Amino acid sequence: MMNIQVLYTEKEIACAVRRVAREIQTHYGMEKSVLALCLLQGGLWFAADLLRLLPPNFILQTVRVSSYGNDMESSGSLEWHGTLPDCAGKEVLLIDDVMDTALTLSAVSDDLRKQGALHVATAVAINKNGHRSPDIQPDFYALPAGNEFIVGYGMDMGGKYRNLPYIGIVTP
Ligand code: PRP
Repeated sequence: MMNIQVLYTEKEIACAVRRVAREIQTHYGMEKSVLALCLLQGGLWFAADLLRLLPPNFILQTVRVSSYGNDMESSGSLEWHGTLPDCAGKEVLLIDDVMDTALTLSAVSDDLRKQGALHVATAVAINKNGHRSPDIQPDFYALPAGNEFIVGYGMDMGGKYRNLPYIGIVTP
């Protein structure tokens, strides 16, 4: 068992997710249809919590992409599993657990735009700021984090610890 120091408790996450759900609802309203596209596996927890707080015009779909393999560092390459849902003419909100280098969300956003998405926005539980240019930011995020290796609430280490209800920093 690794040593994991709590960064955000379950309560703090829930509170931040409620705030971000309000921001998203204010931005999109309750009429226009929004394709809420959850990136698996990590985005599952945030998407499930977020969607429960959003009105019925947010339509959930999922797609699996991976960029990290089992390493603790980004591999720099994106792997697609399966096909992207039809997004032509749609308002898309991409939902993921974390933006770090932004490689994943930028690549997925580009692809969706190429396929004719009307507009693509990003929502993440955790905004990690250290590994990318500061002008690339998620449109919506629940909580900030530094460069520590974190797990829980969808974030894994070799597939483990995603299901921790809190977010923790892995320490040696
Ligand atoms: C993780 C995470 C994001 C991405 C963020 O996915 O879920 O999709 O990395 O990192 P980036 O901003 O540097 O691209 P991963 O490839 O580990 O797949 P997973 O969701 O199945 O864990």
